[in-house]
Amino acid sequence: MKKGTVKKLIASVLAGALMFSITACGNKNNGGQDGNPSSSQSSSEGILEKIKKSGKIVLGTSADFPPYEFHKEINGKDEIIGFDISIAKEIAKDLGVELEIKDMKFDGLLTALEASKVDFVMAGMNPDAERSKSVDFSKIYYEAEQTILVRAEDKEKYNGVESLTGKKIGAQKTSVQEKIANEQIRDAQVKSLGKVTDLVMELKNKKVEAVVVETVVAKSYAAANKDLAVADFKFDAGKDEIGSAVAVKKGSKDLVEAVNKTLDRLISEKTIEKMVIEANNQVDNQ
Ligand code: ARG
Repeated sequence: MKKGTVKKLIASVLAGALMFSITACGNKNNGGQDGNPSSSQSSSEGILEKIKKSGKIVLGTSADFPPYEFHKEINGKDEIIGFDISIAKEIAKDLGVELEIKDMKFDGLLTALEASKVDFVMAGMNPDAERSKSVDFSKIYYEAEQTILVRAEDKEKYNGVESLTGKKIGAQKTSVQEKIANEQIRDAQVKSLGKVTDLVMELKNKKVEAVVVETVVAKSYAAANKDLAVADFKFDAGKDEIGSAVAVKKGSKDLVEAVNKTLDRLISEKTIEKMVIEANNQVDNQ
């Protein structure tokens, strides 16, 4: 009898969960894909409303990208910090909700967003044309250049794109840097991995000769690892690849507006530059 009640309870909870996911799914399908603006709007309102109701907003990031986002032990506890995280906290604050962070591989971020596993993505992500087909982006909040990280003893050797011809080059899977390595370095043997931290290990272990990364990120790793250095050149970046933006699920008009409002405030207060300096100071130096 008691068992039966428990079973019934489980069944009804499951049914409820199913109903909920069907409703959520229904909302998703209305996400403007049918080109009907009113259904698109109800979907976007749904997202902002859902966030406010739940009292939290979930950020997806790949915390291997100092000073944007990285792990650091603070008072014996592993924390994810960086200037993307500081900005995300301001977005959450302006919405009046808590920030929850989900750390994952860079190449899984947009899928997680599309599947509503996260509400927004901040990962030093460039809003390129390909990505813009599947997600929406905020305005650009930070601009960066692309270079390579090398072993300190090779800094003179790798002084331009030509010097990298035919070499083993590391780059993060599905990143703009992977594209740059393939397109701009002649005969490059590109090794793509999910985490920049693993690429840095490959570099130290001489499995690759250089890792393509953003200059600020390269500087950050070089400051933390005396055996690494930033090369003295930069790649020609395409217009898509210059700045970072916040990604949200396609059709989330209200959320993009809210995010842009926070970004406008931070940009006009010149807060982002301060956050970058602060994050750089927090990177562990050796
Ligand atoms: N800016 C590059 C891109 O958008 C790389 C970003 C990598 N970010 C990270 N958190 N690992 O493709």
